[in-house]
Amino acid sequence: MSMEVTAWHSMYNAMHAQQDRRPFSRATLRRIAGFARPHTRRLLLFLVFSVVTAVLAVATPLLAGRVVDAIIGAEPLPVVTWIAALIAVIAVAEAAIGLVTRWLSANIGEGLILDLRTAVFDHVQRMPVAFFTRTRTGALVSRLNNDVIGAQRAFSDTLSGVVGNVVTLLLTVVVMVGISWQITVLALLLLPVFVLPARRMGARLARLEREAASHNATMGTQMTERFSAPGATLIKLFGRPDHESREFAERAGRVRDIGVRTAMVQTVFVTALTLVSALALALVYGLGGFYALRGQLEAGAVVSLGMLLTRLYAPLTALASARVEVMSALVSFERVFEVLDLAPLVTERPDARPVPDGPAAVEFDGVHFGYPSADRVSLASLEEVAVLDTRGGAPVLHDVSFRAEPGQMVALVGSSGAGKSTIAQLLPRLYDVDQGAVRVAGVDVRDLTAASLRGTVGMVTQDGHLFHESIRANLTLARPEATDAELWEVLRRARLDHLIAELPDGLDTVVGERGYRLSGGERQRLTIARLLLARPRVVILDEATAHLDSTSEAAVQEALGEALAGRTALVIAHRLSTIRAADLILVVEDGRVVERGTHTDLLDAGGRYAELYRTQFADADAEPAPAS
Ligand SMILES: Nc1ncnc2c1ncn2[C@@H]1O[C@H](COP(=O)(O)OP(=O)(O)O)[C@@H](O)[C@H]1O
Ligand SMILES: [Mg+2]
Repeated sequence: MSMEVTAWHSMYNAMHAQQDRRPFSRATLRRIAGFARPHTRRLLLFLVFSVVTAVLAVATPLLAGRVVDAIIGAEPLPVVTWIAALIAVIAVAEAAIGLVTRWLSANIGEGLILDLRTAVFDHVQRMPVAFFTRTRTGALVSRLNNDVIGAQRAFSDTLSGVVGNVVTLLLTVVVMVGISWQITVLALLLLPVFVLPARRMGARLARLEREAASHNATMGTQMTERFSAPGATLIKLFGRPDHESREFAERAGRVRDIGVRTAMVQTVFVTALTLVSALALALVYGLGGFYALRGQLEAGAVVSLGMLLTRLYAPLTALASARVEVMSALVSFERVFEVLDLAPLVTERPDARPVPDGPAAVEFDGVHFGYPSADRVSLASLEEVAVLDTRGGAPVLHDVSFRAEPGQMVALVGSSGAGKSTIAQLLPRLYDVDQGAVRVAGVDVRDLTAASLRGTVGMVTQDGHLFHESIRANLTLARPEATDAELWEVLRRARLDHLIAELPDGLDTVVGERGYRLSGGERQRLTIARLLLARPRVVILDEATAHLDSTSEAAVQEALGEALAGRTALVIAHRLSTIRAADLILVVEDGRVVERGTHTDLLDAGGRYAELYRTQFADADAEPAPAS
């Protein structure tokens, strides 16, 4: 890591330390309570058992003192044996209740993990594409795993412990005051020694925790990016493995340092507390012995006080570090809430309606669009920057208007970066327009339900992504109820049936990142089969045939012909054959439609299209170009 980066990191940390001092807001606590609500009954039961445990904890020292008094008072033997038996019964009851309370707290805690996880997954799934293009997957996955577990700790281990400990503490103090208020007051004078450093320690540990979480997320990102097949290939071809390892080791080293520091801060703290409680015990025995010798206190009372004191400091110690743990757990809650609070830019209106039945025309009406800047779609903490980029939002599309009548095919042509894919992405509402409107079947896409829009508009993109799942699962993504016969039918139409029939597992063959390796063209045909299965009324092909060689293209062209028949289509293609068949060709340049018309019209006009035709399509096409 260079000097600037190191300096920058410490600045980043300093800012985070600042944040640690702000109190956790009431709103956060209220939301946590909201997550606890479904577990109310278990929580109540847990509270009852905590109180019972606390009462039992106070009973034993009192009984022990009673035994000492019985011995000194030379009381009959059965008194002593009965008390001893009672102590034994209490011990067994304590153990049993301990098991039940742990079962309850584990259930509450794990239930909370479940709720938080599903809430975050559900929410993240609803985020717009812009979020995923900005956010690093590793950081997001870490948020789903580490922070959710951290938040759970607040419940199952800490908050639950706090309740039991507070009750134990109060009961113990009350009983001790009953025995000797002077000794109790003296012992409690040491209380500030516990509470004051615990406050400072809490902030310090929360800061360490946050720093470790951020390093862990960075390492997670590095691993998920580098250890994917394409990432690993890139590193092998161009990367600097030594440099990568060094960078990784440096981060891992920071995590180690933080781990050691956290352990030491905690240990010093706990050791100090143990020492103070041991000193207080000496005080109780000294002072208690003094009173007992003067006949102001029973011998048994001194024993009870000593035992109660150890039971007083145990919950006190636990409470002091509980504060620390609650702080770091709250940090985790806040990090989870931060993700939940990120409002999706593209949302369904409450009064959204389905796409009207019948032929679906597509209309772009004075569309202006710019990709949203980072600060509108992501979180600084997910990208490990202090402040999100507010740049961006620069207009990409300017006043784009066109209409594709039902069943028509509109082709978009233009040089790379002109804005063709951007136009395509606005139709299934991967992004929302800034101005103007995109309409499907006469209705603004922002007024349509997401499900009906998904069912109406189908898209095949250039990269043709497949999940690491079976061919069947990848296909039925579009229509879960499809039968095998339907699957084979679309595979046949995509000219893939022979290939897949020869695979050992057929439709159950796992494809995708670590699965069976399909070639680019085969993958493309599989995504076309998925489109055929979905039977959308509107089809978008974004350079869907770019990966295909001439022979597979010929095969796919037929399939596409079927896919496009009777459907409204928006096609981005290099191939002259596809473009020539279009009812309308739009020439896109710098986000504007600069020419429009049919192939022959545009060639005759001798403008930008004619030029593109000469320089691009004529070469890219297998057939000889007549014009050149
Ligand atoms: N996710 C994105 N965020 C920001 N800018 C983008 C994004 N995707 C594309 N762009 C920009 O938008 C412009 C149009 O890109 P695109 O529509 O992909 O072009 P085409 O498909 O015509 O090659 C380009 O300048 C590109 O850099
Ligand atoms: Mg493109």
